[in-house]
Amino acid sequence: MKKKVAIIGGGQTAEKVHVPYYLTREEVEIVAVVGRNMERTKNFALRNGIASSYTDADEMFQAEQPDIVSVCTPNRYHYENVIKALEYGCHVMCEKPPAISAVEAKHMYEVANENNLILAYNFHHRFADDVNILRKKVTEGVLGDIYVVKAKALRRSGVPGWGDFINKEAQGGGPLIDLGVHMLDAALYVLGYPKVEKVTAKMFQKIGSKKSHGSFGEWDPKKFEVEDSLFGFIELEGGCLLQLETSFALNIKETSVMNVEFCGDEAGATLFPASIYTDQKGELVTILDRKTADPDRLQKGMAAFVDKCLGKEVMVANGREGHLILQLIEALYQSAEKGESVTI
Ligand SMILES: NC(=O)c1ccc[n+]([C@@H]2O[C@H](COP(=O)([O-])OP(=O)(O)OC[C@H]3O[C@@H](n4cnc5c(N)ncnc54)[C@H](O)[C@@H]3O)[C@@H](O)[C@H]2O)c1
Repeated sequence: MKKKVAIIGGGQTAEKVHVPYYLTREEVEIVAVVGRNMERTKNFALRNGIASSYTDADEMFQAEQPDIVSVCTPNRYHYENVIKALEYGCHVMCEKPPAISAVEAKHMYEVANENNLILAYNFHHRFADDVNILRKKVTEGVLGDIYVVKAKALRRSGVPGWGDFINKEAQGGGPLIDLGVHMLDAALYVLGYPKVEKVTAKMFQKIGSKKSHGSFGEWDPKKFEVEDSLFGFIELEGGCLLQLETSFALNIKETSVMNVEFCGDEAGATLFPASIYTDQKGELVTILDRKTADPDRLQKGMAAFVDKCLGKEVMVANGREGHLILQLIEALYQSAEKGESVTI
């Protein structure tokens, strides 16, 4: 029998990523969508061939009894919907970031564990072949002792013009919790998720509250409540320094940068596309040089989740990692707000 899937939050990501992926798998069937507004939710269901639409999640769970749930609401509502889905006995794929506080992410992890259910977060970059090739090389010691890592999640003119992305209460913050979180996950995953010891950050709101138009649409500058850029130094167990740059809007030359560089004492590496380089006897040497980054990471992340729900032993971005990354995000915001370093 097919596993029944329900979508909570019928917006852009649900329609572009979750629904199209589930439709490729004959082992599952999307039975319902839950949204905030009935008319829009019904239209979503109609466009995507989904039989039932709801505005009340409890009503949906009781009527449909799904096995699998995708939570694709704005960040603030991830926690309540994930907990509800777990309490109704469902495996959950939750969009990133896991939640808006570390306490919430810890509780989500605990409830999933107590109920022996799968809780996965959509950190899809770590599913790129590039990331897994590099992770293997790092484990084999090809880079030596990695002591500096630079993670960049930058948009030059990319304040989102849709959804709740500039609303601090709904999202928990700006580019750090929305974009930076992706490259932090990719960096930490390659390093084996080492413990974070201390963070220092500075954030700015210089453009989003002044302009109203960008490459990602229009917004009301009076409602722009989040940072538009944030820069952080993260000290990891063992002495490695992870440097983070993230922005929705920043006057840089490139329109967008989503990448991580790893500097070891034997070699250096870049993640997208994966490349490894060093020097030998005075000559610059390329060890690995993939020409293009894996474009299928979104599908691979969804595939891993569905496979795991069907009993396969595969890697997903799990509840424990979701908690660790929220601790880090929270510490970066605290440091930027207080103007001092924060020890975890
Ligand atoms: N993995 C990625 O790269 C990626 C990309 C974009 C967005 N996202 C994440 O996906 C989530 C949604 O982003 P989006 O761009 O789809 O936003 P969106 O605004 O297009 O969609 C959100 C949907 O949730 C609905 N909603 C709001 N509150 C709700 C509630 N309490 N219960 C049920 N439905 C509710 C809204 O009506 C809307 O339809 C965010 O957490 C975002 O960070 C992830």
